[in-house]
Amino acid sequence: MKLNYNPIGFFDSGIGGTSIWKEVTALLPNENTVYLSDSKNAPYGEKHADEIIALAIKNTELLLENNCKLIVVACNTATTNAITYLRKTYDVPFIGIEPAIKPAALKTKSKKIGILATKGTLNSALFEKTSSTIDQQIIIKETVGTGLVPLIEAGKIDSREMQALLTSYIKPLLNEHIDCLVLGCTHYPYLIPSIQKITDNQIEIIDSGLAVAKQTKAILVQHQIINDRNTEAHHQFFINTKKTVLENILKNTVGIQITEKDF
Ligand code: DGL
Repeated sequence: MKLNYNPIGFFDSGIGGTSIWKEVTALLPNENTVYLSDSKNAPYGEKHADEIIALAIKNTELLLENNCKLIVVACNTATTNAITYLRKTYDVPFIGIEPAIKPAALKTKSKKIGILATKGTLNSALFEKTSSTIDQQIIIKETVGTGLVPLIEAGKIDSREMQALLTSYIKPLLNEHIDCLVLGCTHYPYLIPSIQKITDNQIEIIDSGLAVAKQTKAILVQHQIINDRNTEAHHQFFINTKKTVLENILKNTVGIQITEKDF
């Protein structure tokens, strides 16, 4: 069966994965997409690995019911805890996202990099494995961004509360003389302007969005399922809470439809 015109599926614990969705659709404008915002169950980062795997299965099955030809796990926490299981269980290709500590390790001059991610990501076996491959001379300062995802899900990206919480996480990293900060959660790219303000633009902020988009394209080409039809793409978003914050984050984006749905 020819799958080329079928959509690419995305899921995240909420609206954060739209940061990845934006990169993928910018690189692959012909592709139709289906995005699941599992905001009802956010944050995933505080849950046990078994629960994260169960949620990843639920989301994957819904995307497969929507005939997705490839699934982007647009969530570091779900990738680091569940992608091994998903790849073993389903035939469809999966693209995952992991904190970009390898590129940061190549860039740092102070030999100190900071990483801001969820507890679930930093405690995962996959993250531990990736970290162990980094040059031993480089010090990785891990910080759990407790509370950041709920504030983003509540639409409080530019709030004072957010600025204070972020400052409490970033300042200690600056005191440790990091020169690169890895954003290990797909919600966090929406905090880049605030982080730049706190760090006075003195450090490099690294996220994995573009790398994920390039990898998605490479896998579509490899499987010969890229959409080569030059028609306007259709983008369906499903969210299992109120859609207001998602609508706001996607405002001015053309060709999208957002539906509130329980899943
Ligand atoms: N966007 C998810 C990630 O990349 C957020 C995790 C959460 O819900 O705690 O890790």
